[in-house]
Amino acid sequence: MMLQSLNSSSISIDQRQQKEDEYICSLDPLNADAVVKQIPAFNMDKNVEKLTSACYSLLPHPDRLESFDYYESVAAMRDLGFFLGSMKRHGVEPVEAVPELDYVLDVLGSKTNLPPRDTLLHYTSWNPVGFRRRTYTGTPDEDNLIQSVSMAMTPLIKAIFALEAMHSIRPDMPAFAACAKEAAGAFEGMIAGIVHTRKHVSVSYFAHELRLYFDPIHLHGKVYLGPGAVEMPMFVYDHLLWSSSNNDPAYVSFKETYLPYILPYLRDTYTAHCYKPSLLDIFGKFMLESELQQEEVWQAIREFRNLLNFLKSFRMPHKKIADNAYKAANGGEQQRTHGSGGYTPDILEVVLHHMKNAVADFENAVKYYESLPVR
Ligand code: HEM
Repeated sequence: MMLQSLNSSSISIDQRQQKEDEYICSLDPLNADAVVKQIPAFNMDKNVEKLTSACYSLLPHPDRLESFDYYESVAAMRDLGFFLGSMKRHGVEPVEAVPELDYVLDVLGSKTNLPPRDTLLHYTSWNPVGFRRRTYTGTPDEDNLIQSVSMAMTPLIKAIFALEAMHSIRPDMPAFAACAKEAAGAFEGMIAGIVHTRKHVSVSYFAHELRLYFDPIHLHGKVYLGPGAVEMPMFVYDHLLWSSSNNDPAYVSFKETYLPYILPYLRDTYTAHCYKPSLLDIFGKFMLESELQQEEVWQAIREFRNLLNFLKSFRMPHKKIADNAYKAANGGEQQRTHGSGGYTPDILEVVLHHMKNAVADFENAVKYYESLPVR
């Protein structure tokens, strides 16, 4: 793929991101294609010694490491990441088993402006498909879990940018409803991701095997989370749509736990909207301050309602999957009571609770608007 095409100004952010993702997938800077193929067998045998020596064999010399550009650094982190999660799954702290990782992870983290370990992006969007696919287990369930997130990630970014655009459009302008429609259309990718998981990933297998690869690692006395789907920029989407003015400390802390794990430009989007009204606040206030009903606003109400309903279409089935998985883990040999993001599934109830309150506020504003005379 031509690198120059990534710099074209005629493509949207999500298209650019997709091209960048494809380019990263094509890279193999550590010459790891053959070595990573052996990881599932090593994991099946719980062979930490082989995992350790394979990991050693991939570590780049310092001058080679220095020469990596952003894209190569991302691809190198992706490949080392599979060793981090695998060693941890067998109870071994990766940097204790391979002390040289410490320096390499630091350099790769700083070259990419991401944490000094692999993230969900490395595991999914930057993971090649087909024969070069990297996995911990080599199972169809894992491949399908990766696919579920990959199919949702670019649409989610597209949806975030449609919401961002809505922040600078008045709700009575036709462009407001048009952007809401675009965001809702893109968000269907998130729903498709959950449907794919429900159909193709066994919750029991997730609970008893896959989840065990997503534990946090320790580096320089700090904890770095494993590449779980909780690292999706879904909280940025919520922030722009309905949650930027929510100041429940537990919920704000939940959102900000994952800020370092998302792309830097999405971190900026999140930060730019902190302490500012969400779209729902803006639209609600607009309706409550209006004096007449207008068709353009009704159009916006219909599209906005769709956006809110789609949130439920993602969250309700996702919560069911999460509850079932953590129920299935109970009594398991190495059960985990917490998600890879460090929270119990109860946090999903907290998010749902705030989301439902926000939707109720919206519906109250709509009721008021309905009572106004028609223009
Ligand atoms: C077997 C599959 C899955 C299980 C068991 C599961 C479980 C969980 C759990 C327990 C949490 C709470 C936070 C934490 O991890 O500490 C969570 C959060 C989250 N998960 Fe999943 N998940 C699964 C698949 C997915 C998929 C495929 C997606 C996206 C396509 C996804 C997106 C999210 C998001 C966005 C959050 C943050 C909370 C929210 O926004 O509602 N998950 N998940």
